[in-house]
Amino acid sequence: MSPGPTPIPPEVSAAGALPIIHHRTPEFGEVFTRVNENLKRVFLTENDIFTYAASGTGAFEGAIQNLFSPGDKVLVVNNGNFGNRWVKMSRAFGLEAIELKYDWGVKADNDEIADTLAREPGIKAAVCVLSETSTGTVNDIEGFARATEDVVTIIDAVSGIGACPLRTDEWGVDVVVAGSQKALMTPPGLGFVSVSERAMRMHEESRMPRFYFDWTAAKKAYAKTPPQTPWTPAVSIIIQLDIALQQLLAEGLEEVFQRHILLGRASRAGIKGMGLKLFGPDEDLNSAVTAAWVPDGMDSKALVRLMFREHGIQVAGGQGPMEGRIFRIGHCGYFDSYDIIATIAAAELALESLDYPIELGNGVGAAQRVFSKSGVTA
Ligand SMILES: Cc1ncc(COP(=O)(O)O)c(C=O)c1O
Repeated sequence: MSPGPTPIPPEVSAAGALPIIHHRTPEFGEVFTRVNENLKRVFLTENDIFTYAASGTGAFEGAIQNLFSPGDKVLVVNNGNFGNRWVKMSRAFGLEAIELKYDWGVKADNDEIADTLAREPGIKAAVCVLSETSTGTVNDIEGFARATEDVVTIIDAVSGIGACPLRTDEWGVDVVVAGSQKALMTPPGLGFVSVSERAMRMHEESRMPRFYFDWTAAKKAYAKTPPQTPWTPAVSIIIQLDIALQQLLAEGLEEVFQRHILLGRASRAGIKGMGLKLFGPDEDLNSAVTAAWVPDGMDSKALVRLMFREHGIQVAGGQGPMEGRIFRIGHCGYFDSYDIIATIAAAELALESLDYPIELGNGVGAAQRVFSKSGVTA
């Protein structure tokens, strides 16, 4: 129950044990063709999606190298650990990052973003995180894309893709960065980037040094029949991703979003039911991660440790300024109602062990009620 790496379906585990096939064979070509088509269905885009043997941070670094020239101006929303990372990374690459900072747990203000773009000439692109994993808060990306329609938009969807709706083409998002290890139900090791035609045009102007992540090299290799990667792909993880994407699409993408909404709703109800306070807005948008304050005087690291040691349930603590103060339940990916019910039950027992006065079952009952009302029990 941590927000990544997440559990994977048994069929995806089993696929990882298959013999390695060579990546320039018709057999791998068949898998890779299907993976590319299915990724587009999940990213809700017709744009090219390049897959790298890297984590999400690598794919993001590639996006910076491919889009910008040193000194370019980029607007970056920072309302958590990952927004903060993209500010730091932009500066590391010599960009002028205009940082729009919000308190952790607070959603980006798209009106303020539009005003900043209108006031600051020369901004070439705008960055925002879909699901800010460090807080559980999901930004309104449809509104963000509207507010930034005159510049290239870059969305970090590492924990959001496959959990929270991201209608890439419908909303006009140019670049989406993601990773394999969260809602895509695949082991860590793959980074993805989808690239619109407008972003490709910006890429053609950019003068940042690059090699491994070069989109021109990727585009040339993907244009072959069957599509290829310019360098050796992570064959086994791509074969695993193939199974995971087929499972996701068999469930139905909209159904997957609905399941995540329910998991989020039940988690929030469980947290409130056990008398704790939510961290961040109490809304259905937050369907990937649920964060909560621990009671005053308690260290969330103790709660996280106890839940794992005594109950075998791995939730996450707080990051950065929230270290020790909040805990986070990840529910992006291969999770169902009983995962949430068991997590809330373990949290109640662990809180009691830490001498927090609690009526056992109140949180569990509140979570169960969400599923019972929805008719979903598995
Ligand atoms: C929202 C978000 N962005 C970026 C990252 C970094 O991705 P990775 O660890 O795959 O490099 C993470 C990982 O937790 C994340 O949740």
